Amino acid sequence: MAWQQLSSVVLLAQLLVFASSGTASCGADNETQCVLGVDPLEEPYPIEFPPMESANTPALFPMEDCNGVTLEEATIDQLQDAMSNGLLTSVQLGLCYLNRVYQTDEYINSVLEINPDWLQIATALDAERAAGHVRGPLHGIPYLVKDNIATKDKMETTAGSWMLLGSVVPRDAHVVALLRQAGALLFGKATLSEWADMRSNNYSEGYSPRGGQARSPYNLTLNPGGSSSGSGAAVAANVVPFALGTETDGSVISPAERNAVVGIKPTVGLTSRAGVVPESVHQDTVGTFGKTVRDATYALDGIYGVDGRDNYTLAQTGHVPEGGYARFLTGKDALATARFGIPWESFWVYADAAQQATLLELVELIASAGATIINGTEIPSRAETISPDGWDWDYGGTRGRANESEYTVVKVDFYNDIASYLSELANTAIRSLDDMVAYNYANDGTEGGHPWPRGLPAFYSGQDGFLASQASRGRMDATYYQALAFTQSATRERGVDGALANADGAGDGGPVDLLLVPPDVGQTYQVAAQAGYPMVTLPAGVHGDTGMPFGLALMGTAWSEAELVRWASAIEDLQFSSGTALKRTLPNWYGYMEKNVPVLWL
Ligand SMILES: *[C@@H]1O[C@H](CO)[C@@H](O)[C@H](O)[C@H]1NC(C)=O
Ligand SMILES: *[C@@H]1O[C@H](CO)[C@@H](O)[C@H](O)[C@H]1NC(C)=O
Ligand SMILES: *[C@@H]1O[C@H](CO)[C@@H](O)[C@H](O)[C@H]1NC(C)=O
Ligand SMILES: *[C@@H]1O[C@H](CO)[C@@H](O)[C@H](O)[C@H]1NC(C)=O
Ligand SMILES: *[C@@H]1O[C@H](CO)[C@@H](O)[C@H](O)[C@H]1NC(C)=O
Ligand SMILES: *[C@@H]1O[C@H](CO)[C@@H](O)[C@H](O)[C@H]1NC(C)=O
Repeated sequence: MAWQQLSSVVLLAQLLVFASSGTASCGADNETQCVLGVDPLEEPYPIEFPPMESANTPALFPMEDCNGVTLEEATIDQLQDAMSNGLLTSVQLGLCYLNRVYQTDEYINSVLEINPDWLQIATALDAERAAGHVRGPLHGIPYLVKDNIATKDKMETTAGSWMLLGSVVPRDAHVVALLRQAGALLFGKATLSEWADMRSNNYSEGYSPRGGQARSPYNLTLNPGGSSSGSGAAVAANVVPFALGTETDGSVISPAERNAVVGIKPTVGLTSRAGVVPESVHQDTVGTFGKTVRDATYALDGIYGVDGRDNYTLAQTGHVPEGGYARFLTGKDALATARFGIPWESFWVYADAAQQATLLELVELIASAGATIINGTEIPSRAETISPDGWDWDYGGTRGRANESEYTVVKVDFYNDIASYLSELANTAIRSLDDMVAYNYANDGTEGGHPWPRGLPAFYSGQDGFLASQASRGRMDATYYQALAFTQSATRERGVDGALANADGAGDGGPVDLLLVPPDVGQTYQVAAQAGYPMVTLPAGVHGDTGMPFGLALMGTAWSEAELVRWASAIEDLQFSSGTALKRTLPNWYGYMEKNVPVLWL
């Protein structure tokens, strides 16, 4: 990240706080104390340095209290309480989270850029609160957005690529504009997989030339999930209370579940994509990350809505609850009336044995709280849509049918959608996918245009994703329309909806409220992605051999966010009130000195 810029912001902020606090009372004989408050000669190992003896424990990166308030694992409600009780201001909160960025970023690299305006924004929000006006639950709360979400301010919007440095966006992304209105504190940009993974098919997840390698604080050597990698890692490591990411196929759910945080991937059309560097108009959606379902839901409430610049959002009319989603948050007692389906043959068989056992333990706990669990609610089209060999967005192609492949749709959409995104930028020579490909070839050393070893180890296959899209020339031919119709119907009517209706007649044969699935199995979010349907993941445990987290996810039909929020919060309440270990736990920072690229899939 831009350290020089960050330093000047910190300095300015600290000057401001010192100037207003009036605590500097020290004699001329102890200038060190006067300036720093603590003598570095007496305390040579400040909290910012990870103590080696605490390796492999959460104590390796202890989080300092903020003005006497515990920030580590603080919920948004707790932060609001502290601010309304006068224990904290948004400015102080920003300073404390900035220290957390300093402490952790050279290790996990979740932050790409700090907003140079954050201090002014926080100051204004504090003044508003002091004058008796609190806009809502996000007032004064710092958050990050993935670097493919436009902000019309002093920050860059580059999707992690040097080629968009200095380009000027026309306006805030709609989701950012809404969060400004909600009073949230735009704190900076999160690292990501470059171009949200569109560029390459064999790559280091979480890597971008401009942002470097994002890492999960649970095991820094392993794939942190992506492409919203920094958003997931930052929330997991308490670098910010919440973050936004984007998903085309797994990019919210995967980093959320691999960083033990809650991820909400909304129905395509619930959150506007205007101002988001696109991948596919049919599948892209903006989602949220929080440590709890409530936090992620507050963020969702802050960003959904109709936007004239994204006509897919018109479809939400009549499907959105009055007053937002937070009022569907509930407790474990609600589980007494729940009916959850387990698509065992469709997804669960692909989870490893240890994970299966752990997740089944959690499912049993849910059943013991009164929920009816129906095993065998399968995806009817599974033979044609679900690869037995892991996530494969060209499974149609793998089966010899490009006209039934998600990749056929995404390749064509990207070619067209990126051109319309670029057409609104000022101050850039990059106007088309052709320009992008040429830039990467011309800058192999930083951009990895050619495959390794000519390019970069992070992009082993070079820019093969871009080349595949370029070859399509964005032609919406018969193959494209067949693929679009197939991927949608196979994952909707013959997919999630069929499983929810219990088309196979499992158990008592009746329909279920939602599907419980293991999101570590990428085929789960792949089905939701093609359908454009929502998905929510909850932290559920960690792999014994690597320390990497995995989740338990909920899948539902279009516009079922209210139901997903209800059931996810009920399960989370059960996790935290039952004494089970199968819930969010703090990161152990395994491999904290490792800088391997590529990160590994394990
Ligand atoms: C300066 O102040 C620090 C912190 O109170 C104290 O530990 C240190 O002994 C003082 N140094 C001198 C030279 O007085
Ligand atoms: C993907 O890249 C890794 C190196 O990062 C390489 O070992 C592996 O063979 C590649 N996989 C494919 C399918 O090319
Ligand atoms: C959105 O508008 C485009 C043209 O601007 C049109 O082709 C498309 O069908 C519309 N989509 C929806 C979902 O309304
Ligand atoms: C579901 O059924 C399969 C066998 O078809 C079994 O192996 C698995 O344990 C069952 N899962 C649950 C949650 O009952
Ligand atoms: C795709 O092409 C194959 C072979 O021509 C054909 O049998 C199949 O019906 C097509 N699929 C769709 C969804 O049109
Ligand atoms: C972290 O992941 C690496 C694989 O990259 C693995 O070898 C190591 O054992 C893991 N660390 C711990 C403490 O589990």
